Amino acid sequence: MTETNRVFTLAQRPTGKPDDETFELIEETTPTPGDGEVLLRTLYLSVDPYMRGRMSAAESYAEPWAVGEPLRGGVVAEVVESNSDELAAGDIVTGELQWAEYAVADPAELRQIDPKQAPISTALGVLGMTGITAYFGTREVAEPEEGETFVVTGAGGAVGSVAGQIAKIDGARVVGFAGSDEKVEFIEDELGFDVGINYKETDDYEAALAEAAPDGVDAYFDNVGGPITDAVFTQLNVHARVAVCGQISLYNATEQPVGPRKLPTLITKRARVEGFLVSDFQPRWGEAIEQLAGWLDDGSLQYRETVTEGLENAPDAFLGLFEGANLGKQLVKVGEPERRE
Ligand SMILES: NC(=O)c1ccc[n+]([C@@H]2O[C@H](COP(=O)([O-])OP(=O)(O)OC[C@H]3O[C@@H](n4cnc5c(N)ncnc54)[C@H](OP(=O)(O)O)[C@@H]3O)[C@@H](O)[C@H]2O)c1
Repeated sequence: MTETNRVFTLAQRPTGKPDDETFELIEETTPTPGDGEVLLRTLYLSVDPYMRGRMSAAESYAEPWAVGEPLRGGVVAEVVESNSDELAAGDIVTGELQWAEYAVADPAELRQIDPKQAPISTALGVLGMTGITAYFGTREVAEPEEGETFVVTGAGGAVGSVAGQIAKIDGARVVGFAGSDEKVEFIEDELGFDVGINYKETDDYEAALAEAAPDGVDAYFDNVGGPITDAVFTQLNVHARVAVCGQISLYNATEQPVGPRKLPTLITKRARVEGFLVSDFQPRWGEAIEQLAGWLDDGSLQYRETVTEGLENAPDAFLGLFEGANLGKQLVKVGEPERRE
């Protein structure tokens, strides 16, 4: 352990797209754990699109970050020093912690993870918040049934890649929108989606979707919003369900675009559009993790991670989410565990 801790803070609130000026890497003294607390060394840090919202002062479901204060997010860490009976040095935990090399925490804020169950990084992806989002958004909101057509945007990303696989497990025909040929190949060949559409290679989303989903759309898992969602709305079937998970295409917008209004479709198709937050399902997260881990074990669920090395590169990893730089879950590797079995 070193005396110095490096921590990212919010240097200033971005207007539009964040850039390097948004972040500041500062050095402070490594904190000392108090009674009942543990000192943690960060191994992996999660960067997520919702963090864009926390950089703005506007009220949202996640509290805005304060300028000059540390950024926070999902972390997998190793306990290096413990003043608690609940955790010992060498234990691996996950929790909502600072973008930093070291942090002090109360074990009540942490969940211990079993490194034998799956690689520890998965606690931030397929067996963590993004996998759980995919699970509940698909099973409880979009509700694809055997033989139905399920469409997912952001299909090569952390949530979308898992959501599409769950819909396949549930017997649906699955169509994914993704932003590169590599992602289309990944979702079709490795994940078993029926059709992938590279939306950057077509300017007629409606025509591309009509070809990929000739029977219309019964369930739509939306991660992206904007013109792709407008196109999907034109092809909803009667009693379709739309799970609004994310709208990443709008997160950096300085003005909300006014597009063609698609609401008349919802009347004629008696469709349901429902936004949801993964936190709504917090009491049932254990159920989701158990099911996702079971599918990983029996091979019916695949996952991919894009790992950026070094805490100092966390801003680039975050900014890359808005450029489609990640395949699967975007993580930052900050350190190696000191203690190995
Ligand atoms: N409701 C909830 O509780 C909840 C929880 C977690 C995540 N979310 C939301 O779910 C969505 C996916 O999150 P994630 O963590 O899985 O991220 P992700 O999909 O792994 O990464 C973001 C992806 O979005 C795509 N993208 C970026 N800008 C775009 C644009 N303008 N138009 C179309 N696609 C664009 C990029 O892929 P391409 O190469 O395909 O462009 C990028 O790789 C986000 O909107 C996030 O906010 C919601």
